[in-house]
Amino acid sequence: MTVEPTAAPGTSPLISFKDVSQVFRLQGQRAANGSATGSRELMALQGIDIEIQAGQFVALVGASGCGKTTLLNMLAGLVAPTRGEVSLAGRTPELPNMDIGYMFARDALLPWRSARKNVELPLETRGWDRKKREDRAREMLDLVGLKGRESQYRLQLSQGMRQRVALARTLAADPSILLMDEPFAALDARTKLTLQAEFLRIWEQHQGSDKRKTVIFVTHDLQEAVLLADRVIVMLPNPGRIAEDRVIDLPRPRAEHLSEIQFTDEFKRTTHDLFERLEGAIGDRAGQVAS
Ligand SMILES: Nc1ncnc2c1ncn2[C@@H]1O[C@H](COP(=O)(O)OP(=O)(O)OP(=O)(O)O)[C@@H](O)[C@H]1O
Ligand SMILES: [Mg+2]
Repeated sequence: MTVEPTAAPGTSPLISFKDVSQVFRLQGQRAANGSATGSRELMALQGIDIEIQAGQFVALVGASGCGKTTLLNMLAGLVAPTRGEVSLAGRTPELPNMDIGYMFARDALLPWRSARKNVELPLETRGWDRKKREDRAREMLDLVGLKGRESQYRLQLSQGMRQRVALARTLAADPSILLMDEPFAALDARTKLTLQAEFLRIWEQHQGSDKRKTVIFVTHDLQEAVLLADRVIVMLPNPGRIAEDRVIDLPRPRAEHLSEIQFTDEFKRTTHDLFERLEGAIGDRAGQVAS
């Protein structure tokens, strides 16, 4: 059963995609005989309609190439849709947007900067003075469990620690919107669960208040999506489109109970349903889906 998320009467969504399509023009390639082949078009997204209320935690799940990152890039103002309308707080997204924190799958730490200096980056962009930047960066590294690692460099940190630094950096300037593109994908199962819990604990602190951040969280991992989000949107590729938009009713706060939640009937039922939705569709399109 698909449950349409309902907004309180009179509240307009913070984020909306209205009939959004994206066509990318792919460059022509050289054929084996050296002649150039014509460029072709790729329908990356087709007819996407999504409305997201402020403070909601939404997970986007789907096979590789179904347009998840493109949707985040549209919100960040990096990609303009070929058709349709994207709106953020009633306006067309533009660069730079100080309300947005964007976190990527692989740590994007600058190798020549220490952990602390990496966390300070968005604060520099926002013109914070040195002392305030340093204090905030230390506070954030402490929050993600990296006290004592402030002066270490990327090479000296494990993959899990690098993702913690990236998380600290994403949260440092306290943006109200978090775009997270497979932030924990590169981690082993144990580290992943720890970081999921830490992130959720930080996010759930502001439960029920208007300080709660709006999160769009992209993942390939259906269990992660159901575990963390208020709502899971399942996407299919070729062209990228929405197959399912499901409200997740698991109670909050969840941060302290992530391991147990995974054994509850409701969790299993929901992930199973959504898995069938993804899997069924993959079966229909065997051969077209890379994972
Ligand atoms: N700038 C671009 N130019 C041309 N094609 C692009 C561009 N950006 C994305 N695409 C194509 O659009 C489709 C969707 O890409 P996107 O990166 O949004 O997928 P995704 O769902 O994030 O995939 P993954 O799970 O692998 O990260 C892909 O076929 C991709 O090759
Ligand atoms: Mg992607």
